[in-house]
Amino acid sequence: MSKPTYYITTPIYYSSGNFHIGHCYTTVICDAIARFKRMDGYDVFYLTGTDEHGQKVQQKAESAGVTPKQFVDKLYDQIVRLWKVLNISYDKFIRTTDDYHEQTVQKIYQKLLDSDDIYKSHYEGWYCTPCESFWTESQLVDGKCPDCGREVKLQQEESYFFRLSKYQDRLIEFYRQNPDFISPKSRMNEMINNFIKPGLKDLCISRTTFDWGVKLPFDPKHVAYVWVDALGNYITALGYLQEDHSLFDKFWPADLHMVGKEIVRFHTIIWPALLMALGLPLPKKVYGHGWVLFDNDKMSKSKGNAVDPFFLADRYGADAVRYFLLREIPFGSDGVYSNEALLNRTNADLVNDLGNLVSRTTAMITQYFGGVIPRPNGYNKLDRELIDLCEGTLAQVRADMDALSAPDALTDIFKIVQRANKYIDETTPWTLNKNGDKERLATVMYVLAECIRFAATLLVPFVPTTAQKIFDKLGLPLPADFDAIKRFGGIGDGVTVTKGENLFDRIDIDKELKELDKIAAEKNVESQKNSPQVPQITIEDFAKVKLMTAKVIACERVAKSDKLLLLKLQTGDEVRQVVSGIAQYYTPEYMLGKTVVLVSNLKPVKIRGVESNGMILCAADGKNVVFVTPEQDIGSGKEVR
Ligand code: MSP
Repeated sequence: MSKPTYYITTPIYYSSGNFHIGHCYTTVICDAIARFKRMDGYDVFYLTGTDEHGQKVQQKAESAGVTPKQFVDKLYDQIVRLWKVLNISYDKFIRTTDDYHEQTVQKIYQKLLDSDDIYKSHYEGWYCTPCESFWTESQLVDGKCPDCGREVKLQQEESYFFRLSKYQDRLIEFYRQNPDFISPKSRMNEMINNFIKPGLKDLCISRTTFDWGVKLPFDPKHVAYVWVDALGNYITALGYLQEDHSLFDKFWPADLHMVGKEIVRFHTIIWPALLMALGLPLPKKVYGHGWVLFDNDKMSKSKGNAVDPFFLADRYGADAVRYFLLREIPFGSDGVYSNEALLNRTNADLVNDLGNLVSRTTAMITQYFGGVIPRPNGYNKLDRELIDLCEGTLAQVRADMDALSAPDALTDIFKIVQRANKYIDETTPWTLNKNGDKERLATVMYVLAECIRFAATLLVPFVPTTAQKIFDKLGLPLPADFDAIKRFGGIGDGVTVTKGENLFDRIDIDKELKELDKIAAEKNVESQKNSPQVPQITIEDFAKVKLMTAKVIACERVAKSDKLLLLKLQTGDEVRQVVSGIAQYYTPEYMLGKTVVLVSNLKPVKIRGVESNGMILCAADGKNVVFVTPEQDIGSGKEVR
């Protein structure tokens, strides 16, 4: 009989570099689920990958002075290395720059055009470049992107639109018939109330202001909207619309799209509507997990608080990192990362509970039975309690994993570990030994070895390296599935244990936290050393710069440049023209009537053959550029000092 299939996906990651521990969350959870399902008899396909197109990548590559492909290649190498370090057992890694993916996205667009699900029009909306999302005025929060809180800019362009509005009723009906489609439940309400009820608008699904993307086959000056390109990965990776579509036939629809809560909207509205338009079955579940927070803020590199998973895995072991993420972050809601929490968790569960049980048991079997696990001699009531616990735990853990709750699954597995530790205290094997009660001692040792075997088998999906080490110590092969723990009593004759090194070394938490602070401080000094020294200037130096307010009375794009705007500025009675490199951040229409701050005594220069008399002040953070404006209207031509 063929095995049931299970198709699980992570989102494909933005190639933004410097991955932090929060990034590892989705992938580690999916890995635990995928490994669990494999051991539980499913034919699993676990997909992950990278999301490599879009304006953001193009801009970053430009600032780094490399091509977009060179830029994403470097980040691809980094993320593949990260998943290797963390032992991620994906079956396929897709890159949106893979040829087959790009070609299939083109076929998808063509199919949508042929079925009249796409039409050409104009788009005007507020665009958040970091999130690659368009927003309507009413969706903005304090005029900023509702997802990330950053600046948005008004953008207008010729675009193709997907008839999303046409699918509104079908989506509502689908949710009604599949109440578990969006999980946890709260996210379903969020989607319906915030997005569906106000009315779905057709979706702009092509861009013309940059070209790092999949070109539309019927209008190549347009590139595919990154989200359509990215969401498509879930089916292109399986061979949809390709010659070999056997994986697609076998695994689609997906059993689970695991995503962070901020991208549930794309996966539960846009993605199902696109699939409906393509005439394909919809995924069975989208789970929106919470965030790993850092000091109660979403961890993000741009906020300067990234925590390096390579460093943590190297210092404490990949399994300590995996265990922390799976056990400590309450599934479905947000959780907080701190070094202290990681170290406490490691010491309490991995060193004290698990490590102690394994080392005490292997040491006693070595001391009392020359290392060979003895045969049991009949079980008493106490033993039966442990046997029942072991035999009942798989069903319990399976229920936890069906509810996608790794913290609950680990809590249940650790009940065996904790119960077994208590059993050592209750049976006091050293007394049995002293009293010469070898028969009872043999049973106790056997029960303990079996408890370890049960716990370690169940731990394989979560902490695979540690589980392997435990099986090595027990002198048993790593089990490939859960069949081996259906019945207590699986350890046969003549199995020899080895005590060897500790599974995890106890961490002196105070000392280690100080050490981590020292390392962080050294890193800071290092990065300051590497940043160029800015020379100090005197007030007289500064006075040489004549700054004044100026009003934009006309504005247009500089011909053949996608970066430059030509601004006509009123400064008191005078009008002058300035060329500014802000075309990717502001439209001419938006700039009209705005007051800017002008460096008025710059020597005139020609930029792209156009004379520029001065420069306008802008603030930049490497992603966004925003112009500086007076806090209140003060008129044009006023001195700024
Ligand atoms: N490229 C899109 C997904 C396209 S899928 C068709 C994207 N990429 S991402 O790199 O920003 O995020 C990848 C995953 O990492 C998401 O599930 C996201 O929620 C997760 N995380 C990134 N930072 C996180 C935390 N601090 N905490 C938990 N998960 C977070 O979105």
